[in-house]
Order: sequence, then structure tokens, then C-alpha cells
Amino acid sequence: MTDVARAYDDLIAAGTLQADAAQAHVIPEFARIAADLAEKPKRGFFSKAPPPPRGLYLWGGVGRGKSMLMDLFVDHLGGIPARRVHFHAFMQEIHAAMHVARQRGVDDAIAPVAADVVKTVKVLAFDEMQITDITDAMIVGRLFQALFDGGVVVVTTSNRVPDDLYKDGLNRQLFLPFIDLIKDRMVVHELASPTDYRQDRLAGSPVYFTPLGAEARAQMNTLWRDLSQGAAEPLVLQIKARAVEIPQFRNGVGRASFFDLCAKPLGPGDYLAIAEAVKVLMIDDIPQLSRSNFNEARRFVTLIDALYEARVRLICSAAARPEMLYIEGEGTFEFERTASRLREMQSAGWAQDNSG
Ligand SMILES: Nc1ncnc2c1ncn2[C@@H]1O[C@H](COP(=O)(O)OP(=O)(O)OP(=O)(O)O)[C@@H](O)[C@H]1O
Ligand SMILES: [Mg+2]
Repeated sequence: MTDVARAYDDLIAAGTLQADAAQAHVIPEFARIAADLAEKPKRGFFSKAPPPPRGLYLWGGVGRGKSMLMDLFVDHLGGIPARRVHFHAFMQEIHAAMHVARQRGVDDAIAPVAADVVKTVKVLAFDEMQITDITDAMIVGRLFQALFDGGVVVVTTSNRVPDDLYKDGLNRQLFLPFIDLIKDRMVVHELASPTDYRQDRLAGSPVYFTPLGAEARAQMNTLWRDLSQGAAEPLVLQIKARAVEIPQFRNGVGRASFFDLCAKPLGPGDYLAIAEAVKVLMIDDIPQLSRSNFNEARRFVTLIDALYEARVRLICSAAARPEMLYIEGEGTFEFERTASRLREMQSAGWAQDNSG
């Protein structure tokens, strides 16, 4: 039995994870890759190194355990150099490195940038592969070809089947070879578990903490630890020429303070991008809103609308319950809708199926 299979069984036996047939079905795929990579290459003097194993494209609905399984795989690879990175963050690094290479006068920047990646890792584990941006769509084909040619094994999680990547995107025909490449170099596997474990973890748990103070903060921290499961990193969203940052992000869960999101001059486009990027958003320290912080309040309304439309799970700490958050000043009437949405977003059935 490989380490990843044993680790999964141990977590089930310890009661940390619930037994799940669909998850158990994925383990052999990860085990196959780990075993293949661990095998010492039987390399004769004249024979070439064996081809690297096919990677894994693990897709399915939200909260099914894709990221959890991938993390378990990465954590049990022994000494094999692996990197687990959010797909979006990786692509930003690639664009930045290509920019530097071009400034040095390199014409074909993909090749040297991919070569640098190949030098440092054997396994790339991407969380949340999705392609929405034309600048990503136009380079991933050649980039991944170079990574595969360099012997890198790619595993990835996604909410979409490969054929739906960059769906309806501009110039999509130029992107199609990438889909063929994925199918060729990776095993495509659907994690068809019936259970949304993220939803399960939140079921019965309050998600709106008021008043502000040590207790609310402690409850927010507990939920964050439970949901994020590992070291968080900032997630930087590039929106046209601007960068908008969610200070902490991990496994689809973002955490930011009201100040981070609403005290800066962000607009509807920024909030839409934030809502697209997270499945759960935790907002700390929503203050009492009034005439004195009208601009912050107005942005907060826009943010909640974006989160509501995208059916994001919201967890927050606030100075008052929704109906009492904004009771005087211009816009109190409009805020009634926000309060009602805040209330609805706390219900157990909220965002039950937001896998789209
Ligand atoms: N078998 C299980 N038993 C208990 N908890 C589980 C199980 N599988 C996953 N979880 C937990 O459920 C939560 C969601 O899992 P995970 O983040 O891996 O889902 P996901 O498939 O990656 O979702 P998304 O597509 O939204 O990123 C995590 O907190 C994870 O630890
Ligand atoms: Mg995930």
C-alpha cells in the first residue's frame, strides 16, 4: 500500500474523515502516480529514462474533497520535489517571469520560463484550475507542452470537466489543443461524491457573529481553521491594470476584513472578481454603518450583491445584526435589501448547489 492510501485509511479510521466511496475510488489514481515516481528508473546505459506517469485531472462539484485529496497526495510524496499552488497564482508568476524574459530581449519567453519550472519540480499540483482570461488561454497549451516534455507530472483540481474549460471564451478554437493535451497527459477523473463536506461542516454552525469582540474573533478563527486546512496565502486578482488582494486564501475559502474590502476604492468589477474567486468568504469586523462611513457602506452593499449573485457562502463578524447595521443616513432604504440578503445567506440551505 502506498503512503497516500495508508494516510487516507488512517484518517477514516480515526474518524477525521467520513468514509466516502467516490473518494476511495480516486486514491488508486494518486497511488499510481506516487508509486511510479518513487520507482528508481531502471536505466540501462543506452536506454532512455521511462516516460513520466500520466497526471490526474480531478473534477467535480464543490466541497467533495478534491483539494483535500490532492493535499494528502502532495504531503505523502516522500522526497519527490512537488509544488502545490493555486492555479491562478501560478499563472500570475508565469506572466511575470515572461515579462522579465521579454525585457531581456527573449522572443519566445514561454520556453525559458517553463525550463525554469522544470528545473525545480517533478510534480505540480494545481488547485482550482479554471481559465477565464484570454492571456492565460493563449499560452497554457505551449506552456504545459513544455512542462510535460520536461517530465513534470501535473495533478489538478477543477469544478469543470476539461471540455468546459474556457467555455465561450474569445478565440476558443486556439485553446482547444490544450484540452486534447490534458486528456492525453492526464487521467480525467470525476469525483462524483454525493456529499458537499464543506456545506456539512457549516451546517448547524452560526455564520454571523455579533457583537464584535474577542468571542466573535475566536469563533471566526475556529471556522477559518476548520475550513482552510493549511497555510493560507494572499490571492491577488488582476483586474485590468489593477491588483485586488484577498489577504488570506486557501481551498476556495477567502478571509479579509471589512476594512480590506470596503475601505479601499473598489468598484463593482472588483467585487464581481472577488465573488468569482471564492466559494466561501469570511469578512471580519463589519462596523456599525452610518452617514459617517457612507462610502464604505455603499461598497458593502455592492459586495453583498456580488456575493449573493455568485451564491458564495458568507461568514462574518459584525457590530450588529443585519437589520440594525445601517439604520440612519442616506440609503437606509436600499440597505433593507442587503439586510435581507445577509439574513438569507445565513440559512442552512444557502448555496446548497453552487457547483456551476
Ligand atoms: N470524507 C470526508 N469527511 C469529512 N470531511 C471531508 C471529507 N472530504 C472532504 N472533507 C472536508 O470538506 C471540506 C471541503 O473539501 P475540499 O476543500 O477538499 O473540497 P473541494 O472538492 O476541493 O471543493 P471545491 O471544488 O469547492 O474546491 C474540507 O474542509 C475537507 O477537509
Ligand atoms: Mg478545492
